[in-house]
Amino acid sequence: MHVMTAPESPASFWNRRYQDVERLWSTEPNAILVESADELQPGRALDLGAGEGRNAVWLARRGWRVSALDVSSAGLARAARRAAGEGLELECVEADWREYRPAASFDLVVISFMHPAPEERASMFASAREGLVPGGHLFVVGVDLAEHGRRGPPDADRLYTPERMRRALQGFELLRCESVGYEGESKEGRRPVVDVVAIAKRPASG
Ligand SMILES: C[S@@+](CC[C@H](N)C(=O)[O-])C[C@H]1O[C@@H](n2cnc3c(N)ncnc32)[C@H](O)[C@@H]1O
Repeated sequence: MHVMTAPESPASFWNRRYQDVERLWSTEPNAILVESADELQPGRALDLGAGEGRNAVWLARRGWRVSALDVSSAGLARAARRAAGEGLELECVEADWREYRPAASFDLVVISFMHPAPEERASMFASAREGLVPGGHLFVVGVDLAEHGRRGPPDADRLYTPERMRRALQGFELLRCESVGYEGESKEGRRPVVDVVAIAKRPASG
């Protein structure tokens, strides 16, 4: 008999990944986010797919009022614990970005190592755009296609190239979009990586 099984939900997939290990990612914030956000005046930030909160907690430490959104309750519980351990405030939102409709209230949206299917990429960025105040910034970092097989999801279509990123970032003023080789953070420490980085602005009148 052929039994059809429903595809696993993102919440179940990610909770399983988090529950399998004590810590899945580095505790260090992304090095390029650190450089870039340091140039901005702290305001309200949304970390979309915040995971264990390394970027969200760093932003909160720098004076940002941060909302950490993730579909995984296990990842968010770690982010909340880490923030509380430092006496920092962090709003945790357990949600799937595909169902989350933020009000235009954030000065910064961070999307760090989210690799949705290619047909969902543009709507993920559109949802980030909706959450930004006019003039607000979007920061995106994700694994470069050149790293396929070494880092990131096994499906090469989900990895980024500057061209894929640019095509999906509709309705933004693009300030930066390129492949960057740098000392990236891993659970084992810093190591050379290649990522695609984009910094974009919601136009002041759009
Ligand atoms: C590779 S991790 C990156 C975590 C974090 N941004 C970082 O840089 O350490 C991807 C995260 O996206 C979350 N995620 C995946 N699909 C999601 C969805 N549809 N809605 C919200 N979060 C999602 C996962 O639970 C996971 O925590």
